[in-house]
Amino acid sequence: MCCDSRMCGIFGCVLKEGNAAPIIHAALKRLEYRGYDSVGEATIDDGEIYIKKDRGMIDEVHKIKNLDDLPGNIGIGHTRWATHGAPLEVNAHPHMDCTGQIAVIHNGIIENFEELKQELENNGHFFKSKTDTEVIPHLIEHSLEINPSISLADAVLETVKKLNGSYAIAVISTREPDKIVCARNESPLVVGVNEKAVYFASDIPAFLPVTNKAVIVDDGELVTLSLDGYEIKKIADSSIVTREPKVIDWAPEMAVKQGYPHFMLKEIHEQPECLRNTLRLQDHYLDLMATFLDRAREVYLVACGTSYHACLAASYMFSKLAFLATYPVVASEFVEQHGKSVNIDSTILAVSQSGETADTLASIHAARQRAATVLGLTNVIGSTLTRVSRVYISQQSGPEIGVAATKTFTSQLSVMAQVALKLAKKRGKVSQDEMDYLAERLDKMPETVDTIIRTQEEKVKQIAKKYKDAKVFFFLGRGISTATAYEGRLKLMEIAYVPAIAFPAGESKHGPISLVEPGFPVVFVCPKDDTRKTLIGNIMEMKARGASIIAVVEEGDEEVKRLADDFIEVSKGIPDVLSPISYVIPLQLLAYYIALERGYNPDTPRNLAKSVTVK
Ligand code: AGP
Repeated sequence: MCCDSRMCGIFGCVLKEGNAAPIIHAALKRLEYRGYDSVGEATIDDGEIYIKKDRGMIDEVHKIKNLDDLPGNIGIGHTRWATHGAPLEVNAHPHMDCTGQIAVIHNGIIENFEELKQELENNGHFFKSKTDTEVIPHLIEHSLEINPSISLADAVLETVKKLNGSYAIAVISTREPDKIVCARNESPLVVGVNEKAVYFASDIPAFLPVTNKAVIVDDGELVTLSLDGYEIKKIADSSIVTREPKVIDWAPEMAVKQGYPHFMLKEIHEQPECLRNTLRLQDHYLDLMATFLDRAREVYLVACGTSYHACLAASYMFSKLAFLATYPVVASEFVEQHGKSVNIDSTILAVSQSGETADTLASIHAARQRAATVLGLTNVIGSTLTRVSRVYISQQSGPEIGVAATKTFTSQLSVMAQVALKLAKKRGKVSQDEMDYLAERLDKMPETVDTIIRTQEEKVKQIAKKYKDAKVFFFLGRGISTATAYEGRLKLMEIAYVPAIAFPAGESKHGPISLVEPGFPVVFVCPKDDTRKTLIGNIMEMKARGASIIAVVEEGDEEVKRLADDFIEVSKGIPDVLSPISYVIPLQLLAYYIALERGYNPDTPRNLAKSVTVK
C-alpha cells in the first residue's frame, strides 16, 4: 500500500491492437482524484506524435477536444494537479522538446529545474511553459543531439541522472515509435500486464478494470514498455532487474483509496509524504513572504475552519520565533471586527486549502479595497486566492478528497513554521543553534508523524471504542496547543457529530468546568513544553470532578500518563512551536475511529461539503 501525495495522475499503454486514446481517456478518469485542473494525451502513429491537452476537468476537455480521437496503439496521458505554473493549456502535460519528436508526462517536483532550464536556454532551447517538467524533454533532446547513436532509454537514463527531486515520468519519441520509456524516483509507478497489452500508471486503479497483474517499479528504476512486454533497469548502473507481476485482489472502489476504507484515513496516512513536499518548497517564495511580513505594520491571519486553526498556531510561531505580533481572525468576522481599521499599512495573510472559501475571499476583497497587502497560502494553484494574492505559497498537499481537512492542516503548519523561521532569521531574534535545531526537527517531522501513526493507531482505535457513546467532549490545551485542541474538536464534531467544546485550559475555572461530572471525557493536548506544569494543574482540577482524562502526551511522560485514564504518546523532543503538526495526528485518528464506531462515513459528513475551484 503506497501512500503518495504527489499530485498528478499518469498512465500509458502499448496495445497489440486498437487505438490507445480511448483506453488512456478512461484510465485518466479513474485517476482524476489525483489532480483535476488540466489533462492531456499524446499518441504516436506512423512516425508522428499527436497531442491533445487543455486546462479543465477531463469531461470538460473531452467535450471540446474528444480525447478518444487520437491515432496509434501507443500513448501516454496525464491529469494534473498544478505545483509549478498555473492550470493553463500551455502548462498542461505532455510537454515536448524543440523538435516535437519527444513527448513527456511527469508526476512529481523537479527541484533543480531553474538551473537546468537556464543551461538549456543558453544552448538555444526554447521553453513554452512555466512548468518544472518541461526541462525533461529538452534534456532528452540534448542527449540525443550530443550522441545520436544512443537509444531513447539511454537518453532518458542520462537525463534522469541530472534531475533532483521526485519524479515518475513517461517518454515517447518518433525516434523509437514502438516504445514507452518510464523512470521513477519517489513518485509511484506501477506496470500492468495482460495478454493484449502492457500498461503503466501512477496508481493501480488506472488499469485494474483491464488487468489485476501489476509490477511495482521501485525508486531508481527505469522501465521500457513495448509489445514484447516490459524491461526494468537500475538507473544507477543499468543492470537488468527481473520482477514478476503480482495479482492485486482489490475492488476498483477500494483501489482508488489505495486499499484504505476511506479517503480521510488514506489522507491521514499521506501526511508524512505531504510534509516532505512542504520541505521542498522554493526558498524564494518563503523568503518573499517573510519579507512582506517583516515590513508589515500589522498582520492579520485570516481563514475559516481548519485553516483558521493553522492561523491560530502560526500566531504563536511568529510571536515566539520572530517577535512579530499577528492577529488570527475568523474570516466571517473579519469585516465586522477589523474592516474599518485595515489600511495601506496592513497585511493580510489569507489561508485556504481550496483557495475558494467565500468568507476568506470576502475578507480579502474588503482589505484590498482599503489598499492592504494580501498574501496567500493555499493548496490549489489557479484558485481565486492565488489570483488575488501579491505573493502566495502553494503547500503541495495534492488533492484532498475527504471533506474533513487533515493532510492540508499539517502542511499549512509546516509552511507557516518555515516562514516563521525565515522571519526569525531576518530579525535575528533566534540564535543560529536554535534555528538549526528547529530546522532539523522540522526536517524530521515526516518520520515523526509516520512513527505516531504506526505506533499509536491501534491504541486510538481502543480509546474510540471506549468513548463512542460519550455525549460531549472537552478539548483543552495551553499555548500553541490551544490551536491543536480546537482542531481536534472540529474533527470530532464534523465527522462523528459529537458536541465538543475546546478552549484554552486556563479558562476552565472561569465557567466551563461547571459542565464536568463523573465520566465526562476531557482530551488534554500535553506536550512537554513551558505550559506543561500549569496544564497538569488543569488536569487535576478536572480529575477532582470525576472527568475521564484522555491525554496526548510526550512519549515516556510517566507523570501525566499516571494522571490520565487513557493516553496517546507522541515522539520525544518536539519543539513547542512545531508540536501541533504531530500532536494533532492522534486527534484526527480519534475523530475518524469514533465516527466509524458510531456508524458514520467520515468522507461525506452530513450538511458539509468541500470548497472547490470555480472555473
Ligand atoms: C475542515 O475539516 C473543514 N472542511 C472546513 O472547516 C474547512 O477547513 C474550511 O471550510 C476552510 O476551507 P479552506 O481551507 O478550503 O478555505
